[in-house]
Amino acid sequence: MNSQINRSMASELVLKHELSANMRTRWFMLATLIVSAFIWYKNFFYREEELTDLNPDTQLVVSPGKMHIIVTGGAGFIGSHAALHLLDLGHSVTVIDNLSRGNLGAILQIASLHAPQYFKFHNADLGNQKLLSSILLAAHPAVDLVMHFAAIAYVGESVAQPLLYYHNITVNTINLLEAMRASNINKFVYSSTCAVYGNQAQLPITEETTPQPTSPYGMSKLFAEQVIKAHASATPDFKAIILRYFNVYGNDPEGRLVPHWHVQYVFPAVPHWHCLIGMNNTSSLQCLIGMYREYPRSELRKHSRISGACLDAATGQLPSLTVIGTKHPTSDGTCIRDYIHVTDLVAAHVTAMHAVANPPALYNVGTGQGLSVRQFVTACKKVTGVDIKVVEQAESRPGDYPEMWADPSKIKRELGWKPLYVDVELGLAHAWAWRKSHPSGYQEYGILNDFIRK
Ligand SMILES: NC(=O)c1ccc[n+]([C@@H]2O[C@H](COP(=O)([O-])OP(=O)(O)OC[C@H]3O[C@@H](n4cnc5c(N)ncnc54)[C@H](O)[C@@H]3O)[C@@H](O)[C@H]2O)c1
Repeated sequence: MNSQINRSMASELVLKHELSANMRTRWFMLATLIVSAFIWYKNFFYREEELTDLNPDTQLVVSPGKMHIIVTGGAGFIGSHAALHLLDLGHSVTVIDNLSRGNLGAILQIASLHAPQYFKFHNADLGNQKLLSSILLAAHPAVDLVMHFAAIAYVGESVAQPLLYYHNITVNTINLLEAMRASNINKFVYSSTCAVYGNQAQLPITEETTPQPTSPYGMSKLFAEQVIKAHASATPDFKAIILRYFNVYGNDPEGRLVPHWHVQYVFPAVPHWHCLIGMNNTSSLQCLIGMYREYPRSELRKHSRISGACLDAATGQLPSLTVIGTKHPTSDGTCIRDYIHVTDLVAAHVTAMHAVANPPALYNVGTGQGLSVRQFVTACKKVTGVDIKVVEQAESRPGDYPEMWADPSKIKRELGWKPLYVDVELGLAHAWAWRKSHPSGYQEYGILNDFIRK
C-alpha cells in the first residue's frame, strides 16, 4: 500500500517537474520569439530618417568676423566635409538633411568635434516647403549664406527615375530659394556637376563649353542653374556662385570623416574578431545578439562610384569590383574622369563663398587631369596592397559618356584656388587608412546598442 502511495507521489512529482519544464521551455520560446521579432523589426524597419534634430534648442553663437552658414546635404559625403571644415574655420553651421542618402554617423562625428553652440542639425526634407521655410525663418542668429549640396546624385538612377531627379534637384532648389527669399537670405553657393556638359568632343571642358547633358541628373542640375540665374536677375540683392564639380573622391586627410557609410543591423553570423575580444566599444553580449554597424548602403551599391567600390572590394565588403563600361573609345576602353579630392573641393567652396556675385559666377572644379577607370583601379590595388578581384561589364551605364576632364584655369586665375591632392594614390591612401582603422564605420550605435550599454 505504502509503496503504491510512494509510486503515485513520485509520478505526480515527475509530472509536476515535466509540466514546469514544459512551462520553462514555453517561456523560453516566447522570450526568444519576442527578442527575435524585436531584432527583425529593428533590422527591417529601423531607419535613420526616424531620428530627429540635433541641438534643436541650442542658441547658436556666431564669432566676430565669422558667418552662420546653412549646409544642405551636410550628412552626405561632400556636405559633411564642408560642414566640418567651416566649423574648423570658426563659422557656425546649421545642417539640413533628410538622411535619405546621408549618414547620421557623420553628423554625430561633426558634433563630437565642435561645441554645440556652433553646430545644429535639422532632419528635414527640402521637398517639405513649409518645414524648410520655418527652419530658415526661425534660424538665429540670421543666416549669412547657404551652401546647397543636398541632392540625389547617380546618373544611372536618374535615367531610370527621371521624375525623382527633377523633383529632388530642380524643384527642391526652387523650394530652397523661395524659403531663402522669405527669410531675406541672399548668398548662395550651388553644387553643380560636370554631368551638365554631357558627351563633348572638345576636351578639356571650359566654362564656355556648351552644356548638353545626357542624363536627367545632368539636365536637372542645368535647370537648377537656370533657376538660380533667373532668380538672380530678378533679385538684385541675391548673390550666388555655381561650382561644377568633376569626380569627387578621397576623405578628410586627418581621418575624421569618410564617404558614403550607412547604418545597418548586422547579425553575428560573420563575427568580427575585434568584437569577440571586446574591442571597439562592444560587449560580448552585443556580439551574441548582433549590432548596428556602418556599411556602404547596400541598395545603392549598384550605382556606386569607383572610388568607394574599390575600397569596399579591398576590405572584402564586396566580393569583387565591377568595372562598368569597357568598350568606350578611350585608350583602354574605360571611362576617363577627372578625380578631385574632397578636401580641395571644400577649399574651393570656402574661396567661392567670398566671391558670390550677381549675375552668379560659374566655375569648373577639377584637377585638369584625366584618369581612366582601369588606372584608378590599379592605383587602388597599389594603395591597399590587395589584389582586388575585378569583374568587367562591357556595357556602360545608361547616361554615361566616355571622357571628361576639366580646364580649371578660370577658378585658378580668378579666385586663386588650386588643387593640392592631385596624386590619386595620396587621396586613396587617406580613405584606405580610415577604412582599415574603422572596420565598423564611425561608431556602433542605435537604440539596441544604447540600451545594452545602459
Ligand atoms: N560626388 C561627386 O562626385 C559629385 C560630383 C559632382 C557634383 N556632385 C554634387 O555634390 C552634391 C553632394 O554630393 P555627395 O556626393 O556628397 O552626395 P551624398 O549622397 O553623399 O550627399 C547628398 C546629401 O543630400 C541629402 N539629401 C538628398 N535629398 C534630400 C532632400 N530632399 N532633403 C534633404 N536632404 C537631402 C542626402 O541625405 C545626403 O546626405 C550633390 O548636389 C551632387 O549632385 C557630387
